[in-house]
Amino acid sequence: MKIKNICCIGAGYVGGPTMAVIAQKCPEINVTVVDINEKRIAAWNDKDVENIPIYEPGLSEIVKKARDRNLFFSTDVDAAIDKADMIFISVNTPTKTYGIGKGMAADLKFIELCARQIARVSKNDKIVVEKSTLPVRTAEALKNILDNTGNGVNYQILSNPEFLAEGTAVDDLMTPDRVLIGGDIDTTEGKEAVEALVDIYAHWVPRERLLTTNVWSSELSKLTANAFLAQRVSSINAMSELCEKTGADVNEVSKAVGMDSRIGPKFLKSSVGFGGSCFQKDILNLVYISKSFGLNEVADYWEQVILMNDHQKRRFAAKIVQTLFNTVSGKKIALLGWAFKKDTNDTRESAAIYVADYLLNEQAEIVVYDPKVKTEQIYADLDYLNSRPSEENRSRVKVVNTPYEATKDSHAVAVLTEWDEFKDLDWQKVYDEMLKPAFLFDGRRLLERETKETIGFEFYAIGS
Ligand code: UDX
Ligand code: ADP
Repeated sequence: MKIKNICCIGAGYVGGPTMAVIAQKCPEINVTVVDINEKRIAAWNDKDVENIPIYEPGLSEIVKKARDRNLFFSTDVDAAIDKADMIFISVNTPTKTYGIGKGMAADLKFIELCARQIARVSKNDKIVVEKSTLPVRTAEALKNILDNTGNGVNYQILSNPEFLAEGTAVDDLMTPDRVLIGGDIDTTEGKEAVEALVDIYAHWVPRERLLTTNVWSSELSKLTANAFLAQRVSSINAMSELCEKTGADVNEVSKAVGMDSRIGPKFLKSSVGFGGSCFQKDILNLVYISKSFGLNEVADYWEQVILMNDHQKRRFAAKIVQTLFNTVSGKKIALLGWAFKKDTNDTRESAAIYVADYLLNEQAEIVVYDPKVKTEQIYADLDYLNSRPSEENRSRVKVVNTPYEATKDSHAVAVLTEWDEFKDLDWQKVYDEMLKPAFLFDGRRLLERETKETIGFEFYAIGS
């Protein structure tokens, strides 16, 4: 089975970069990425390729080469579905904010809408690929909807979870540790569908890295990988608090621990708390699924990873308040960084949002600088928490275009995202222009203590 036309529903952080790389590596396949968000599609089609809606190092160059050759962005979802042999579903699956499973279960309404649209439009057989991270056994629900439309079309459902991390998406897609493809491997049609997707990746990924499993293993592996990664961050963050009490240094501890080849050095960097669209959502999902099977101990075990992360964000914000003589009321606090990690403009679940909210509750005046996040996004993130009227967020939080505007006349500076440029700021200038004592809080272990203390800062860093 040779795939000629691919449609990807959802032009977001997963769909956009993944399809751009498939288009680049498979010039004989037409790839159309569709989305109901007209503004987003217009941005993907913007003449100036630097205006594409997602910032990822290396992505704009790929889009520039492939766009309008074999990579297309469109709002005509029906047409793209109709034409495709293979359809990737890459829509958002946020945590439910209402009803059963509120605050825990994944909201699958966007997935279901896609399935119904595919069922309505399709006239020939299709392979449907789940790209979004989904609760285990979602493929079953998809199949149920697709198979019950009565128009005689055959569907094969594959699970092909995306392991790319934001900020390194292009590299992760180009040289993945593994590509996981789950399918109905007990039937001939299922095997053929799996092979069709394997053939696509085999354009650039060595065969031994293409892993095929049954659908449920594939779905659950994605949740497991994210849970394990998040757990490592919470584990080192738990140690960071103990380090602060005992005189140990969390960087030294993580280096020593990570040199054990059984543990390994990655994902042991202590921080103000993990963010991103996946970790919290996927663990909550895992907790919900476990509870729904009555596996309460399993659920409690994983929930602790989230509780620790919440504690870390709160603890960092509280440290600022305590250090500033127990009050930040009316004080100007500069936040450097708003994205959930460097090299992305994504802010979903960013620790910065929660630190800012905590400080606003303590009546601080906040000034934010982030090199990639737009002002409106920052206000939208704060408004989403519903902690205070939107006008108040606008009057008490200022967003500025340079780090020095943020730090000038501030009582304290907090580094919340590990953007490289923060390392190389003129810290003497920052110090000179701040109120004294000048407090500097490093939530990312980005800055060197000695040079900052020599300048005169009162310096606090997570885990030391
Ligand atoms: C994650 C997974 O890594 C990826 O495989 C999956 O497809 C989606 O979820 P992402 O959320 O984009 O990717 O970024 P990641 O690099 O995993 O970082 C997540 C959060 O953990 C960030 O806030 C980051 O700053 C934090 N983190 C990561 C730490 O605090 N310490 C670390 O050592 C690593
Ligand atoms: P992710 O990080 O998983 O890629 P995003 O929120 O960045 O998530 O992207 C998901 C995209 O899916 C959004 O741009 C949204 O508009 C789009 N989307 C959601 N439902 C549909 C649908 N039924 N048809 C087309 N696009 C959809």
